[in-house]
Amino acid sequence: MIKQELLHEGKAKVLYKTQDKNLLISEFKDDLTAGNAAKKGNEKGKGILNCKISTQLFELLEKHGIKTHLVKMLNDNHQLIKKVDIIMIEVVVRNIATGSLTKRLGVEDGTVLPFALVEFYYKEDALNDPILNDEHCIMMDLVKSESDLKELKRLGREINSILKMFFVKRRLNLVDFKVEFGVDNRGNILLADEISPDSCRFWDMDTNEKLDKDVFRQNLGNVKVAYQEILNRVLK
Ligand code: TMP
Repeated sequence: MIKQELLHEGKAKVLYKTQDKNLLISEFKDDLTAGNAAKKGNEKGKGILNCKISTQLFELLEKHGIKTHLVKMLNDNHQLIKKVDIIMIEVVVRNIATGSLTKRLGVEDGTVLPFALVEFYYKEDALNDPILNDEHCIMMDLVKSESDLKELKRLGREINSILKMFFVKRRLNLVDFKVEFGVDNRGNILLADEISPDSCRFWDMDTNEKLDKDVFRQNLGNVKVAYQEILNRVLK
């Protein structure tokens, strides 16, 4: 499969068409952004690390019965993926309070939540990805029905259970993460986009060290060292 015309360039990935209208190639970029691109950076090799991490995690989820857009990794920073219509809702699942949750509600940073909290955000940079409730999603036609919203929540929780257990064995707390879903040409909801330290928060269980994009957001150290550590543990 070879890259044809560029279909879409996002903040962290570029999508290309292929000879097959149902398949795309996703290229993981080295660019980093925070605060909806208010802060920008570039770390050579970050795209390769995220491509490898995300491929491993999508394969793990597939093994546990989660349908994803991943066909296979083509090389270090390219994946072959199924073409889907992206649902414009970012599904965030939280196990520990931090980030925007603490800012918005005043919950103390680091509080272990009594259950996995699932939130929806509107995938719209121009509006700074505002939080949505179920009625907003229906009113805005972001999904076809309430049962799709139920399915997004179920999938978010299921993905969380699988990943949380996987990372506990690797001495990492999965603090929170964001996932995106798309609809394929048969109407199936597939996990899409990526799961990587760009889209998750990981805290070392022994040292509490942050090993995710907060290293970049908060200038805590070397981004690539942190992401490499996540890859090493994923491959353990
Ligand atoms: P938040 O605390 O900033 O709302 O982020 C929650 C989690 O979701 C965190 O792991 C980062 C991830 N996330 C993204 O990857 N992209 C986004 O646009 C948003 C809002 C969150």
